[in-house]
Amino acid sequence: MALTYSSYLKIDELLMLQQPLADEKAHDEMLFIIIHQAYELWFKEILHELDQLQTLLKTCDFPRSQFTLKRILAVLKIIIAQVDVLETMLPFGFLAFRNRLETASGFQSVQFRELEFALGHKRRKIFEFLPDASQARQRLEKRYAQSTLWDALLAGLAKSGYPVPVEALHRDVTQPIVPSIPVQKLLIDLYIGSPPLVYLFEMLLDFDQGFQDWRYRHVKMVERMIGQKYGTGGSAGVGYLKSTLFKPFFPDLWAIRTELQNQ
Ligand code: HEM
Repeated sequence: MALTYSSYLKIDELLMLQQPLADEKAHDEMLFIIIHQAYELWFKEILHELDQLQTLLKTCDFPRSQFTLKRILAVLKIIIAQVDVLETMLPFGFLAFRNRLETASGFQSVQFRELEFALGHKRRKIFEFLPDASQARQRLEKRYAQSTLWDALLAGLAKSGYPVPVEALHRDVTQPIVPSIPVQKLLIDLYIGSPPLVYLFEMLLDFDQGFQDWRYRHVKMVERMIGQKYGTGGSAGVGYLKSTLFKPFFPDLWAIRTELQNQ
């Protein structure tokens, strides 16, 4: 049989995957399911692009890195805007099916943790929530052991002949990225002396800011929806989510802003 739109995209299978648990009175549950599934698909796409971006950076292909980053930024914009759709739900609409979620929570999104790890926000604590032999755990373990986007950038810069501090190049990639004064000095020199690289750095900064924007939009949406109630995942809810705000993936790109003003 000839390939069709439906057979290629597996539309029948896809449309079977939205299965509300509550009765028909919980009208908004369909939106809740679809929006989460859409997020997971976009997370998959961003991870796919981030893997390519790491390869491009490590091989010093900075022009193509920018194209990939442009795509990632476009997706990020969409997933931030998607919060608007969820905010059309009233607290009553959510309440109608919230109990059916039991302890399920976005907190358990493995792809979200993969994103965090790929971007350098690594911590072993996350593994406590994942069964030992699960496929999800294996995927996350792989990301944990791999270099991050920032490491790929520094490796590419070093390969291109820029004087990247040795300790930054050989750091333990399973550890969170911490600010580094020598790296900041290099970045300032590059901002001043290597204009073609500046656009790449600024796109990385856009991405870092965009991710923080998503966190902020998510926490405000949660506050609209459940106020100060505990989360289904067992956290303090809004209070916990607020503690995740304003934490950049690439602290050195932020740390140099004051100094750039003094040039
Ligand atoms: C009615 C809508 C939503 C509510 C009320 C809500 C609520 C919460 C709460 C309370 C938490 C903290 C963990 C917990 O105790 O459960 C959380 C975490 C999280 N949620 Fe949502 N959420 C909603 C929609 C979404 C959507 C659409 C996504 C998209 C994937 C999402 C992704 C996440 C992620 C990734 C975390 C973990 C954040 C972190 O640990 O940094 N949530 N959510």
